[in-house]
Amino acid sequence: MKETLVILAHPNIETSTINRRWKEAIEQQLPNVKIRDLYSLYGQNFQIDVQAEQDACEQAERIVWQFPFYWYSCPPLLKKWIDDVLTDQWAYGKDGDRLHGKELLLAFSTGSGAERYHREGRNKYTVEELIFPFRATSNLIGTTFLPPYYFNGAYVATEEDIQTSIAHYMERLRM
Ligand SMILES: Cc1cc2nc3c(=O)[nH]c(=O)nc-3n(C[C@H](O)[C@H](O)[C@H](O)COP(=O)(O)O)c2cc1C
Repeated sequence: MKETLVILAHPNIETSTINRRWKEAIEQQLPNVKIRDLYSLYGQNFQIDVQAEQDACEQAERIVWQFPFYWYSCPPLLKKWIDDVLTDQWAYGKDGDRLHGKELLLAFSTGSGAERYHREGRNKYTVEELIFPFRATSNLIGTTFLPPYYFNGAYVATEEDIQTSIAHYMERLRM
């Protein structure tokens, strides 16, 4: 299995039904996968230790951004992580090749069901369209953007749905 680093961004992991279960499953089933829980590390003041984050990224072959979908994007601390950690000369720009060749996986949950992520649905756009900024980011930093793993319909998820999603997500991490 590739050296995998999960950058987890959930503002309320203790009340989460999906991301908390995914996190617990990683801890139980995949002890070699490293998790950096951004809200636990930096939720107080949003002051990110850029060097520590970059060091962790450099050691990984695969980086996962795991989060609940907020306003068709990620929670603010992951956005700030992207702003602060993916620096010029390191992630992009002249000699900014430190992430080149690594894999990038998005793993996220949405409240709305899949039926809402269509032209005729309430959200009008597909999930794949909405995550284009992440694809563009991956392109700029030279990572391979893996097919995203996402779970639709967190609001109505049954225990069986959650178990299935855990199995699928763990499978993706094992690949
Ligand atoms: C501030 C906020 C914004 C949200 N925006 C969206 C959204 O744009 N699309 C969507 O499907 N769900 C949205 N949701 C619902 C969350 O995605 C959902 O509660 C989460 O994926 C469930 O995961 P969890 O059990 O790990 O918290 C939002 C929730 C909050 C609190």
